[in-house]
Amino acid sequence: MERIDDLLKTKWLGKNYRFETEVASTNTLCYELAESGAPMGTVVAAQSQSAARGRQNRVWVSPEDGLWFSLLLRPAFSPEKAAALTVVTAVGVCRGLMYYPGLGAEIKWPNDIYAGGKKLCGILSEMKTEQKKLHYVIIGIGVNLSTAKLPSAIQKTAAGIEELLGVSIDRKELLCRLLLGLESAYEQYFNGQEKELFAEWEERSLIMDREVIVKTVGGEVAGRVVGLSEEGFLLLDMGNGKGAKIISGDVYEKD
Ligand code: BTN
Repeated sequence: MERIDDLLKTKWLGKNYRFETEVASTNTLCYELAESGAPMGTVVAAQSQSAARGRQNRVWVSPEDGLWFSLLLRPAFSPEKAAALTVVTAVGVCRGLMYYPGLGAEIKWPNDIYAGGKKLCGILSEMKTEQKKLHYVIIGIGVNLSTAKLPSAIQKTAAGIEELLGVSIDRKELLCRLLLGLESAYEQYFNGQEKELFAEWEERSLIMDREVIVKTVGGEVAGRVVGLSEEGFLLLDMGNGKGAKIISGDVYEKD
């Protein structure tokens, strides 16, 4: 995966590309590149990561049999609008995964992609802002190819694309397919077509119309998922005519 330009069909995403055999975290390396002026669309991939992070400072285990990469966006909009980029990324990843028929990837708000009832991919968005000005956004994406080298506790909840499809997956092809799907989703969002994107999110959502409990920093909220707000926040119907709009949290299905 040292080079991807021979397979890549995007216009701008991944045109500036860097590959490392091992890094602490591709998000951290991408951040360093951003600070030294790397262009919009820069992509950093690594064969393995020694200190990768997940959401809420959780550890993200990244052995060699996965696809670990980060991308740099420099959109000309507010931090508020950038908040929905995680949702947009999830739609883009699903579009890329459509190249693999039978995978049946679904989105679990806000940043997980599930397949076969288990987590296949995680997304971590980080942004640099200053006085309400958005400098850049770094989006890290981790896709399990196989779960064999993951700790057994994680194996219970993780899915690997190779195990799901029963074939070996070319990492470079997977990366190029994902970048193509992501570029189309970002362009749509940059062009103000969030309605279409959020409708696609609803179609691909694992939790749409389901009764869920969302654990937020402010406590637990229970309700039925009815879609996304125009900012990309999760909308719940709590019954009795009451609704909730959730900015961030962990979603659990009510049993
Ligand atoms: C999550 O589900 O909590 C998000 C996981 C994000 C993992 C990816 S792997 C590539 C990039 N580098 C990191 O350190 N994290 C992200």
